[in-house]
Amino acid sequence: MRLARLMKVFITRRIPPEGRATLAQAADCEVEEWDSDEPIPSQELERGVAGAHGLLCLLSDRVDKKLLDAAGSNLKVISTLSVGVDHLALDEIKRRGIRVGYTPDVLTDATAELAVSLLLTTCRRLPEAIGEVKNGGWTSWKPLWMCGYGLSESTVGIVGLGRIGQAIARRLKPFGVQRFLYTGQQPKPQEAAEFQAEFVSALELAAESDFVVVSCSLTPATKGLCNKDFFQKMRSTAVFVNISRGDVVNQDDLYQALASGQIAAAGLDVTTPEPLPTDHPLLSLQNCVILPHIGSATYKTRNTMSLLAANNLLAGLRGKPMPSELKL
Ligand code: NDP
Ligand code: DGY
Repeated sequence: MRLARLMKVFITRRIPPEGRATLAQAADCEVEEWDSDEPIPSQELERGVAGAHGLLCLLSDRVDKKLLDAAGSNLKVISTLSVGVDHLALDEIKRRGIRVGYTPDVLTDATAELAVSLLLTTCRRLPEAIGEVKNGGWTSWKPLWMCGYGLSESTVGIVGLGRIGQAIARRLKPFGVQRFLYTGQQPKPQEAAEFQAEFVSALELAAESDFVVVSCSLTPATKGLCNKDFFQKMRSTAVFVNISRGDVVNQDDLYQALASGQIAAAGLDVTTPEPLPTDHPLLSLQNCVILPHIGSATYKTRNTMSLLAANNLLAGLRGKPMPSELKL
């Protein structure tokens, strides 16, 4: 009897149990993982990926030409534990005929829920208010103290009315939002109809929104989209929220806009770099709320993402249709 050769799979981090177990049980694979919650050093990654047929990676692993060269010609599938794919050199990957799996849909609800939490936390100044309770600043109920901005009768502008953008709009609508605007590559009348959302340019959206929520993918066209010109158009009472990727925002321009009172406040789940250094100027501002990229961080969602990423990888290695394959 001839034994088939095992396919080598390399996993760049400790992943949630369902995905891990699925890969461990795959009889046709030999699985190696970076058994840690912390990022794999680049030398270890290059060593681990060498000769691999499949790579399961995270959004913090940059899969570029150098890494693909280190992997070598065996590599047939890259499965990322994320819906965002801006960390992958897609042109180079396509050129090498490598298939890519990703995790859309399964994290949409969790991420939209976090976006709404962040928006409310920011516009109603919750971190500041909690701080006042703890530091003795709460001396009495004061009519003009700790006021923020509410969603009722507001205009919300969504940058990127994709899966997550729509899920955010769906959750914000019951708060009494009066008008939805959105921007993107082109109008999407079918998706927009649910919110009677109007398609506008990015700068119009900035000018007319009380709340700007950024939920687009990071591409060359969206890199730095929210810059000085964008913030200058925004109202001094407007609140800015970003859950997409840090690079969509020019952070120096955002800092100026927040520090000068050009805009009221910002809530960021994503930054450049990640983690943001603890002495970063944005962290010195009372009107900037920063979270450590936790959009999809519920136990259930992360477990489901890991299972989907594992099944994408196995299907790709076995030459079958993947549950979620990125069209290259
Ligand atoms: P989708 O592909 O469904 O949506 C992406 C959106 O980006 C689309 O609406 C698209 O617009 C828009 N877009 C693309 N180019 C532009 C542009 N030039 N200007 C404005 N909008 C543009 O993806 P998802 O909704 O599933 O995810 C979106 C992103 O959210 C991910 O790529 C990821 O970066 C981020 N994310 C962050 C998480 C977190 O933990 N904070 C969790 C999950 C995702 P159009 O429809 O016109 O093409
Ligand atoms: C993604 O999936 O792109 C997020 O940033 C993390 O879930």
